[in-house]
Amino acid sequence: MHAAPFPTTRLRRLRATTALRDLVRENRVTADDLILPIFVEEGIDRPLPVDSMPGVERIPERHLPREVEAIARDGVRALMLFGVSHSKDAAGSDAWRKDGLVARMVRAAKDAVPELVVIPDTCFCEYTDHGHCGVIDDGHVHNDITIENLGRQAVVAADAGADLIAPSAMMDGQIAAIRHALDAAGHSNVPIMAYSSKFASSFYGPFRAAAGCELKGDRKTYQMDPANGREALRESMQDEAEGADILMVKPGLPYLDVLARLRERTLLPLAAYQVSGEYAMIRFAAAAGAIDEQAVVRESLSAFKRAGADLILSYFAREVIQEGF
Ligand code: PBG
Repeated sequence: MHAAPFPTTRLRRLRATTALRDLVRENRVTADDLILPIFVEEGIDRPLPVDSMPGVERIPERHLPREVEAIARDGVRALMLFGVSHSKDAAGSDAWRKDGLVARMVRAAKDAVPELVVIPDTCFCEYTDHGHCGVIDDGHVHNDITIENLGRQAVVAADAGADLIAPSAMMDGQIAAIRHALDAAGHSNVPIMAYSSKFASSFYGPFRAAAGCELKGDRKTYQMDPANGREALRESMQDEAEGADILMVKPGLPYLDVLARLRERTLLPLAAYQVSGEYAMIRFAAAAGAIDEQAVVRESLSAFKRAGADLILSYFAREVIQEGF
């Protein structure tokens, strides 16, 4: 079947008015799709602006309940929580303490707004004194000890009321280990959103300042090589086989090809993470007058949907929801 050629076919016909364009629009972003990541710091009294991410602040832990209420009032329906820890050690053990920052943040957010979907980032880089995403052994992040610890952290988070566990450490077998630990602890109904295709990306630069987890070196022995597409599919297929409920591609815009290819290969819901560096590029370019921020943000978010994302993590989520789509 071939489409009739011009002049029988004129693709501009359906673009003639706003109403016509709206009728044939293929994708729409709504508040239902968006997850807002926030940073919560223990032991501080005032919000700390993150210079590399204008408009983003570290929220003092004691302000968390009222901040969560305000965010929910603005229409945000799902939150990703990142802790900024003052209690770091070699293993990141605060993350699996019953009264540690992960547990306290989750509990406070759920108590403040029970209907909010509360998602703790499940990793160790914010809680280790060396900044890596797990336990160091002989100069490397030890995979099998780390996944056991991830299981412990996930159980503590689920005990505190987490609605979804989002492991981002890029350890082999982490989804199976977490699924097993959750099930054994009576949390068989808590789903897992796997950061399944997560690249060793320089676009995370501003995040590391925001979350206070700068590290010496890099994460190239566990996060993926940005040049690899097929391997990203293998990573995600592994996580699906291990029991992930949602798969994620991260970063977002530079990796839309991975998202689109994954969309063709799985029936699971897919998430895209518009990361800190993407946020910073848009913010700084808009501040310099180079681009129209609102328009660029909306275009980027709809590009994620077009490529196959069902969920989108974005630091712009609150503003977009407030301003309208
Ligand atoms: C923790 C984690 C990171 C991000 C989300 N979870 C940092 C990293 O992997 O280095 C990055 C988020 C962002 O840049 O917005 N592992």
